[in-house]
Amino acid sequence: MMVCEYKPGLEGIPAAQSSISYVDGQKGILEYRGIRIEELAEKSTFLETAYLLIWGELPSKEELEGFEHEVRYHRRIKYRIRDMMKCFPESGHPMDALQASAAALGLFYSLRDLHNPAYIRDSVVRLIATIPTMVAAFQLMRKGNDPVRPRDDLDYSSNFLYMLDEKEPDPLMARIFDICLILQVEHTMNASTFSARVTASTLTDPYAVVASAVGTLGGPLHGGANEEVIQMLEKIGSVENVRPYIDHCLETKSKIMGFGHRVYKVKDPRAIILQGLAEQLFEKFGYDKFYDIAQEMERVVEEKLGSKGIYPNIDFYSGLVYRKMGIPTDLFTPIFAIARVAGWLAHWKEQLEENRIFRPTQVYNGLHEVTYTPIDQR
Ligand code: CMC
Repeated sequence: MMVCEYKPGLEGIPAAQSSISYVDGQKGILEYRGIRIEELAEKSTFLETAYLLIWGELPSKEELEGFEHEVRYHRRIKYRIRDMMKCFPESGHPMDALQASAAALGLFYSLRDLHNPAYIRDSVVRLIATIPTMVAAFQLMRKGNDPVRPRDDLDYSSNFLYMLDEKEPDPLMARIFDICLILQVEHTMNASTFSARVTASTLTDPYAVVASAVGTLGGPLHGGANEEVIQMLEKIGSVENVRPYIDHCLETKSKIMGFGHRVYKVKDPRAIILQGLAEQLFEKFGYDKFYDIAQEMERVVEEKLGSKGIYPNIDFYSGLVYRKMGIPTDLFTPIFAIARVAGWLAHWKEQLEENRIFRPTQVYNGLHEVTYTPIDQR
């Protein structure tokens, strides 16, 4: 029998063959279906990019309009889902509320017709359309308000921002938000995508696939870093405090949030794009001390850790951008999920195309032939 080396966290071990996205961490390249992220951020929309990832090619004009139309008219959530969410404790984390709601959606669509393209399309549309509505509904209900109904005349990102506080968003803000979703939609075999593929491989329904991935994304080692970036910027408080803060982190060997990446050893290409968007946002809506602190942090970290390949990652600037948009910090990870659901669904579909249930092995390091000790002798 072949003996394989055990790698904690399966680091460096391929878990699937995939044509969805590609990362070159040395050169700072990220591609979705072969298209560079920079080009998609400039020219595409979130829904078009979602279509590209899920169906493998950019849609024609008619295909895109058809997809956008379907998503637009499936945004409402069932009143029973809404009533269930009303019973969630307002102190609960919105990621937990989202995981429970995504799983509950599966109760209404129990037919599992995984080889039918129409079933796949309906599920994709329903999940991409309703997840933002669930996130926004919980945000309002936890403050004691009724959820805001989706507006059919607004595009995907404008409608989400509108549902958060019943105000039509500024167009630049909505476009920047849409680009953020493009940047967060997919990133090869990360923990939540792996989780989605493992769940998909059992041939369960897509609601269970998404619920399992949402649960995985919620952990602080994965989706939660952008929340911590904001807490760190608040703690630093002023530009003068940046250098002492970083020196202290280095002395105590603690990690500086929003910097470093397992794969990228140059600046994360998504952080470069987000930095430009942050600049546009602050220029239009006013610079504040958080922007200055962030700039100084990047300068000082590069000076001290650039030789180790430590640069800002996507979470450093996404936190800054979402904060400037007035979005509550604990919604940053649910927003990551709004984007990433399309990536998970692309992997769900790809997994089904050549499915083999995941069943890795383990290295047993326990005891053998142990005799049972009666309770009164232990
Ligand atoms: N601050 C200070 N030092 C760092 C940092 C950091 N953020 N990241 C890495 N280093 C140092 C680390 O101390 C080590 O130094 P030495 O060689 O002297 O022991 C060296 O760089 C290599 O670090 P590592 O922990 O082995 O690197 P890794 O590839 O395992 O870690 C990371 C990657 C993302 C877990 C880590 O950089 C980190 O914890 N960053 C802060 C948290 C964060 O921003 N997470 C979001 C990641 S991006 C999410 C996404 O792409 O979806």
